[in-house]
Amino acid sequence: KMKAFIDELMAKMTVDEKIGQLNLPTGGEATTGSAVSTDLESKIKAGQVGGVFSLTTPDRVRKTQELAVNHSRLKIPLIFGQDVIHGYKTLFPIPLGLSATWDLALIEKTARIAATEASADGLNWAYSPMVDISRDPRWGRISEGSGEDTYLGSQIAAAMVRGLQGNDLAANNTLMACVKHFALYGAAEAGRDYNTTDMSLHRMYNDYLPPYKAAVDAGAGSIMTSFNDINGVPATANHWLLTDVLRKQWGFKGMVATDYTAINELIDHGLGDLQQVSALSLKAGVDMDMVGEGFLTTLKKSLQEGKVSEADIDRACRNVLEAKYKLGLFDDPYKYCSEERAKKEILAKEHLDFAREVAAQSFVLLKNENNVLPLKKSGTVALIGPLANTGSNMPGTWSVNADLKNTQSLLEGMQEVLGSNVKILHSLGSNLLEDAAYQERATMFGREISRDNRSEEALIQEAVKTAQQADVVVAALGESSEMSGESSSRTDLNIPAVQQRLLAALLKTGKPVVLVVFAGRPLTLTWEQAHVPAILNVWFGGTQAAKAITDVLFGNVNPSGKITATFPKNVGQIPIYYSHKNTGRPLAEGKWFQKFRSNYLDVDNEPLYPFGYGLSYTSFAYSDIKLSKNAFSAGDSLAVSVTVTNTGKMAGKEVVQLYTQDLVGSITRPVKELKAFQKIELKAGESKQVVFHLSAEDLKFYSADLQYVAEPGDFKVFVGGNSRDVKEAQFKLQ
Ligand code: IFM
Repeated sequence: KMKAFIDELMAKMTVDEKIGQLNLPTGGEATTGSAVSTDLESKIKAGQVGGVFSLTTPDRVRKTQELAVNHSRLKIPLIFGQDVIHGYKTLFPIPLGLSATWDLALIEKTARIAATEASADGLNWAYSPMVDISRDPRWGRISEGSGEDTYLGSQIAAAMVRGLQGNDLAANNTLMACVKHFALYGAAEAGRDYNTTDMSLHRMYNDYLPPYKAAVDAGAGSIMTSFNDINGVPATANHWLLTDVLRKQWGFKGMVATDYTAINELIDHGLGDLQQVSALSLKAGVDMDMVGEGFLTTLKKSLQEGKVSEADIDRACRNVLEAKYKLGLFDDPYKYCSEERAKKEILAKEHLDFAREVAAQSFVLLKNENNVLPLKKSGTVALIGPLANTGSNMPGTWSVNADLKNTQSLLEGMQEVLGSNVKILHSLGSNLLEDAAYQERATMFGREISRDNRSEEALIQEAVKTAQQADVVVAALGESSEMSGESSSRTDLNIPAVQQRLLAALLKTGKPVVLVVFAGRPLTLTWEQAHVPAILNVWFGGTQAAKAITDVLFGNVNPSGKITATFPKNVGQIPIYYSHKNTGRPLAEGKWFQKFRSNYLDVDNEPLYPFGYGLSYTSFAYSDIKLSKNAFSAGDSLAVSVTVTNTGKMAGKEVVQLYTQDLVGSITRPVKELKAFQKIELKAGESKQVVFHLSAEDLKFYSADLQYVAEPGDFKVFVGGNSRDVKEAQFKLQ
């Protein structure tokens, strides 16, 4: 039915109208005329626009849609897309934080709520999920993904697609997903945003490509090309990537859009002028040009000159029209515009309550010496630091619809949740950054953090005085939200030095200090780990972050988050990730340095916190691993079980993780690979048996010639609460 409908429509279309469908201009700020700029209005009427970038609210969307549906010759509806990444107006934690919940159902529900709110506000297309694997925390956009692991990243990618798209793409409360950034954007050299990627095929297929494929397999309707160069060919002009891998190998049937002006940027990549790079992108497999208008302004000429064919344009046009058809826009172009729904569903109480719950689950307790946490709900707390009273910092990167002015700061959240039970004293303590120009770069887009012009000494002195009057100090330090995310790469991953000096002064008071770390990436908390008794990593937790942090600090919620990207001891260790290779010269067990082995002179090979790590207010003990058999063959499966006991005094959640190691392979294999996990909840004293079933399918990998195989031989299996502290057993695949 779809094919016949689109065949009939395309038969009526001129080449110009087909090219018009490939154009995705921005809605812009200008609201002249009906809802958009006069320039955009005339383009829509002339059939030169396929969709609109970042234009929201039922009224504006309806008025803009009317321009296409009532005034363009063929009345083809527009699609409306935006970055709906970790919530819409109800913001959830940044994706790296969400992934730390290891809770797929919860993550799916966050995407469902985001889609509900965004679709009520006129949108039908989300530039999400971001599934780039990254093993380099210098890269600011590590905050937007699910961390370093291929298996977990793939599971989350699929969950996000399910949440955004639901069971029915044509329902008025779902959004079409746009999987990004295809591909390998997270492996940009030196962690510098937009930088080159150069990678072996077997690393691509084994480590970096699976999450995109998982999202495609989950039915994602569209995919976004990335900005980076891949082995010499930028992704946006990469025929091998966009056609051979994506369409031929993976069978993707949806629409390919570029990232923002990614076609134009091919000029700076050195691939030619706008006409040439537009033709290259179209032929590589791009269907829709985000904002750059290279397609709109050059494809006709390229067609006349034989540089592209009408079949190339038809293919792209069909993919765009099919996306609109699947969204049900031809049946009802206004289905996503309902003021009534917007009023009822956006920031609904149940969404906000859920956001509070999710945020609390995303926080990771990194250290808790002598059970400093949870804090007592009585006495006096000194809340100190440049991030203690900045609500606009809470939502995190890509929260374009956040109400930054009305997001509670930690101070406000604490006051509301704790009422008069706890006396809260507050002091700034330090500026965010010593360097004013750096602070300006690091606090933009309504997230400005004002500076206090008093001297550093004066600020610290005041904070120390405040601390001395309290029973306990909570230091809210770390990054502003704009210190991670797009175009926010850093080479120094310490908590800024001026904040560290404040922390040192607070510790000197002798009061117990709890460090609440705001960050969009793993920070190098080596000094803090050595000196501060309790550390809670809270990412950027979204709309309800302030209350959720209070919930965890004061024991209403027992923390259960586990990090999904390794925390390095220093920047020199990067890239550091748990699934590394053994090398031919590994260190002997228990050694941290041996001459002529693979190591550093100045720091050991261990991370500060390993992948999968996170503490709880209770403790868990793992039994030895039981295997249902010692050997199994393809078609059969192996049951791996452990008993986990809550040995502490509080109910808690634990993420039980299973890793394998392929001991002998046709290519070198990682020392550990995550293959399964279960998140369980145990009351104090309770035990549960956790059983995993492994099959040969779980042991497959891409060999040197890219065959997806499980090679018979010996394997180790590990189970534990993080990638380092594990029980171990051995089995054979026959
Ligand atoms: O979706 C984003 C992408 O992640 C980065 N560049 C801009 C796009 C649209 O806003």
